[in-house]
Amino acid sequence: MSEIFVKINNQEKGPYSPRELKNLAAKGEFSQSDLVFHEDTQEWIEAGKIDELHEVFESFDVKAVPKTVFAVGGGKGGVGKTSLSASLGIGLAALDYNVVAIDADFGGANLHTCMGILDPEYSFYHFYTMQRESLQDIMLDTPIQNLKLISGACGTLGLANPQFSQKQRFIKQLHELNADFILLDLGAGSSYNVIDFFIAADQGILVTTPDPIAIQDTFNFLKVAFLRILVREFRNNNKILEIIDLHIGSNSGRMNSTIDDLIYGIEKENKEAAEKIYGHLNRFKPLLILNMVHANEEIKEGDTFKTAAKELLSIDVDYIGYIEYDDSVRNSLKELRPFILNNPKSKASKSLAKLISAGLLKKDRWQGFKEKRRVMKNVSIDSKSYPTTNLNESEIICSVKCFYWDDCEYQNGGHPCPIRHLDPIFRR
Ligand SMILES: Nc1ncnc2c1ncn2[C@@H]1O[C@H](COP(=O)(O)OP(=O)(O)OP(=O)(O)O)[C@@H](O)[C@H]1O
Ligand SMILES: [Mg+2]
Repeated sequence: MSEIFVKINNQEKGPYSPRELKNLAAKGEFSQSDLVFHEDTQEWIEAGKIDELHEVFESFDVKAVPKTVFAVGGGKGGVGKTSLSASLGIGLAALDYNVVAIDADFGGANLHTCMGILDPEYSFYHFYTMQRESLQDIMLDTPIQNLKLISGACGTLGLANPQFSQKQRFIKQLHELNADFILLDLGAGSSYNVIDFFIAADQGILVTTPDPIAIQDTFNFLKVAFLRILVREFRNNNKILEIIDLHIGSNSGRMNSTIDDLIYGIEKENKEAAEKIYGHLNRFKPLLILNMVHANEEIKEGDTFKTAAKELLSIDVDYIGYIEYDDSVRNSLKELRPFILNNPKSKASKSLAKLISAGLLKKDRWQGFKEKRRVMKNVSIDSKSYPTTNLNESEIICSVKCFYWDDCEYQNGGHPCPIRHLDPIFRR
């Protein structure tokens, strides 16, 4: 049954696909006693009596997972944060979760482009300028029914550094959004604008490639994030702030001592403060994804990172998996389709499906295997209807002649403009 008409409270609705019905059932809007029009018998029959619909009412893991705001960050630019955010959103939606993907890269918003939405009707700009009051008001539909998008502020370079009050307004509303999962795609770097969103999320996801510079940047990002938590906790306690300053050198990112030593130093001064730090360490457990892995030997870089984070920062990092370097990821960007559905059978897509089920959702072996299969099956279905945008027809090539060149962080002359909605005005 692919097109299903139903009668709920005596009202005819539809047609729905089985997945749409599953969504309705998960929300409690469709039950086994509601009627379904059965094509074979041409009769209205109770949904629970139709074998093909049993899957619709199978127990939902959806409700078992508490609402989670994930922030995808990591310091180094170009490591795949946006590509992963888009495909994570698609993968989670394929498991029937309600997902909102948010572009929080205010300096170089491009999540919408990555998802094939070239000209978003609303963006963070409308929220920032109060033209729209709530995040809900700027939420956009995507080609996937249960995946929504909040687009970054396109072509508004001044918004790269939102004011404190605007950040607070954003963070508050973020946690009020109605969804199972909210994915924040962060910009590069370890500036407080990025870090504050990372630590405001329920769960941080660090993305890095195995190359030493990216690993170092990610480690620094993690350190800055944790110190930011401490500095905010003790903002009214100068004595503790002094001890933090003394122990953790900020020059060139080098540390004078480990977090353990720092806690020891603080404990001598103030036991209660040390307890608070332990509390933060218990709650702050970022996930780690290694992206663009070229060779098997590189996979262990994730474990090395985890060990270093534990030894030096006393932070438990959960290394949830890796994604291979895969040309199909780059190619999907050209077609403006998230890679997991552009090529569901690619190495990268299979790894991501496994990472979602086992790493992110913590499904154990058999359940993990089943959920991975479900991601792959459903993204393959979504793939057929997800629009492909032919870049060649509307290509804007990056050039020094572009009005925005001096302010643009991409400056990728000769290649398609990654912030295409800027509609560059070309200088003569
Ligand atoms: N696993 C992969 N294999 C091959 N290419 C990849 C992979 N992951 C990402 N890429 C490519 O790397 C480039 C950068 O990706 P992306 O824009 O997602 O990075 P980012 O971390 O969001 O960058 P920024 O810091 O600028 O926001 C893109 O061309 C993307 O297609
Ligand atoms: Mg990005």
